[in-house]
Amino acid sequence: MKEPAPRIALVTGANKGIGFEIARQLGVRGFHVFLTARDRTRGEEAAAKLEKAGARVTFLPLDVTEAKSIQAMAASLNQAVDHLDVLVNNAGILESSSVSVLKVSASEVERTWRTNTLGPLLVTQALAPLLQRSKHGTVINLSSGWGSLHDMGDEAAAYGISKAALNAVTRQCADAMKSPGVTVNSVCPGWVRTDMGGAGATRDVDAGADTVVWLATEAPRTITGKFLRDRKAIPW
Ligand SMILES: NC(=O)c1ccc[n+]([C@@H]2O[C@H](COP(=O)([O-])OP(=O)(O)OC[C@H]3O[C@@H](n4cnc5c(N)ncnc54)[C@H](OP(=O)(O)O)[C@@H]3O)[C@@H](O)[C@H]2O)c1
Repeated sequence: MKEPAPRIALVTGANKGIGFEIARQLGVRGFHVFLTARDRTRGEEAAAKLEKAGARVTFLPLDVTEAKSIQAMAASLNQAVDHLDVLVNNAGILESSSVSVLKVSASEVERTWRTNTLGPLLVTQALAPLLQRSKHGTVINLSSGWGSLHDMGDEAAAYGISKAALNAVTRQCADAMKSPGVTVNSVCPGWVRTDMGGAGATRDVDAGADTVVWLATEAPRTITGKFLRDRKAIPW
């Protein structure tokens, strides 16, 4: 009997942290994972680790703040596959968590927005044709509770603004891609022990990846245009 073709996923910023764990878990579930990272050496090392554990992984360089890098990644992916089932926009930065919105610098706001908001938008645009050719195209944007307008206070100003705007990208992309049946959601992974989350965070990367992997594999396809944590919708 012919084996079914593996599902195909691409994860941004997957050389470490939550992105690496998402790539690992999708690999374990039989996906062909395109692991992307802005640093070639770190990305290739991460891909080699997953390959050694038996996953099917291909490394592609990608800096989400560089239009040329996004174009080159999309061109390589288009040569390798004829569709994409899952895109995880995971790459993100947090420069400061305690600077007040009244003091945060324009340069921090701009850098953070370029990585956390514009990057995912441009990557999604570049890969939309491949996602639309999948029978179950899925986009997952790694957002944050700090981007929830519902709970927002004066903390992590640049980051919170960038993630609130990312949530707007989620809503608009969900609407734009609903007729080919591509689902698009934002996920808050919780407070996770990574370089970004710090050693005092309450969750391990396994828990941080859970809702993303669930959306990529077994969640009802009716879930789109939502903001989720722990597999449940939360307020914007
Ligand atoms: N950890 C938490 O508690 C937490 C909570 C809520 C939301 N999140 C979100 O979850 C996602 C993953 O966070 P994490 O905790 O795993 O962070 P992390 O350990 O700092 O990893 C971030 C990843 O993003 C990559 N990255 C940063 N800028 C990039 C760029 N311009 N192009 C490509 N890749 C870039 C990093 O690459 P380098 O190694 O090259 O720097 C790294 O691979 C982020 O979007 C974050 O905002 C995390």
